[in-house]
Amino acid sequence: VSAEADGMLSSLHWSERTSWDRQPSRLAELCAQAERRGMALTDLSESNPTRCGLLAPRELLARLGDAEGAHYRPDPRGLAAAREAVASYYRRRDLPADPAQIVLTTSTSEAYSWLFKLLADPGGELLVPRPSYPLLPMLAALECVTLNPYDLVRDEGWRVDVDALRRSVGPATRGIVLVHPNNPTGTLVRRDDAGEIARLAAERGLALVVDEVFGDYLHGPCRPDRLPSFAGTADAVCFVLGGLSKLALLPQLKLGWISCYGPTELVTEAVERLELIGDSFLSVSTAVQLSAPAILEAAPLLGAEARRRIVHNLGRLDQAIASLGPGCPLRRLPTDGGWYAMIEIPRTRSDDEWLERLVLDHGIVAHPGYLFGLPTRGTVVVGLLLEPARFDDAIDRALRCWAAG
Ligand SMILES: Cc1ncc(COP(=O)(O)O)c(C=O)c1O
Repeated sequence: VSAEADGMLSSLHWSERTSWDRQPSRLAELCAQAERRGMALTDLSESNPTRCGLLAPRELLARLGDAEGAHYRPDPRGLAAAREAVASYYRRRDLPADPAQIVLTTSTSEAYSWLFKLLADPGGELLVPRPSYPLLPMLAALECVTLNPYDLVRDEGWRVDVDALRRSVGPATRGIVLVHPNNPTGTLVRRDDAGEIARLAAERGLALVVDEVFGDYLHGPCRPDRLPSFAGTADAVCFVLGGLSKLALLPQLKLGWISCYGPTELVTEAVERLELIGDSFLSVSTAVQLSAPAILEAAPLLGAEARRRIVHNLGRLDQAIASLGPGCPLRRLPTDGGWYAMIEIPRTRSDDEWLERLVLDHGIVAHPGYLFGLPTRGTVVVGLLLEPARFDDAIDRALRCWAAG
């Protein structure tokens, strides 16, 4: 007899932190509507490289079948050879890294969750940039941690307002999150601001959590006033996050990492505590760790086609806006790197109204700015990974839609 039939299981208590609104988003509803009408949609916000035709060579994936993978000899920080491979990846970029201060995770998302566990008790707070990566609030909620946004200054190229950041630090603040380059603004933190942020963190006993998943996708040479990476931060405890999902375009392999920097005693304590968290899950598969040295070595090649597309698509976007003439109400916001571009569009309609036009009248999907914490009018985010012929066609149609007002 099932418990249900027996009337024994009347209800369960569900945790608050999973009580999310599970209604389909407006965007999902519109896409479903377009599909019911038989429309073929082009998703300009696509950021899954494997759906953009950016597929890893079979020889490389075959490394996942290494016979050594028949054995299970887990190391809670990650297998030494894989950590060494991550350290070599940083050294190839002329950045310092020590395999003894690297901890492997299944993804950058998991790295965030381990760092939230490490740094904050339930109710503890971290400061996060706004606009930024939309998954952060969910990752934090799952750890019962509160995120308080600090605004990036749009008119100053999304610069961190360090004074405002300083004022946001409260008694429960445990760390400052930076996304570098940021998603979706694509901007890097300026060198002088980075120095001040590290000093603020050191003074107030805060950790820096720096997500550098897009660090290998700068759109040109790094400007001298921008910091290329937080790897090597010495004054404050700093956790630099990376992973194969963006670096090698292999989100399906599930490998990320935390590279730790800062005062030795604190870093040693952090690594020992992260090791305990890692030991509780041992989540990273042996197969991916064994293949990591070959994949990380091939990463510059694996990412090359994506970099080519990003540069082409960004140039094409600028040309297409210019071709609409001097009275064109559209503007592409300046950026340093990453997979996205932000476009200012007329505020004559709300983001959702634009979305409806774009999806149902033109068969194109782009992300509304509010998804990233921006106000609900005036900004749209497009991805730059699509194959150029598809991008060119879709961006032309989208720009004409927005420019028509
Ligand atoms: C800024 C940023 N960080 C992290 C991630 C997730 O990376 P992973 O696949 O390693 O969890 C994403 C994915 O889009 C991202 O945009």
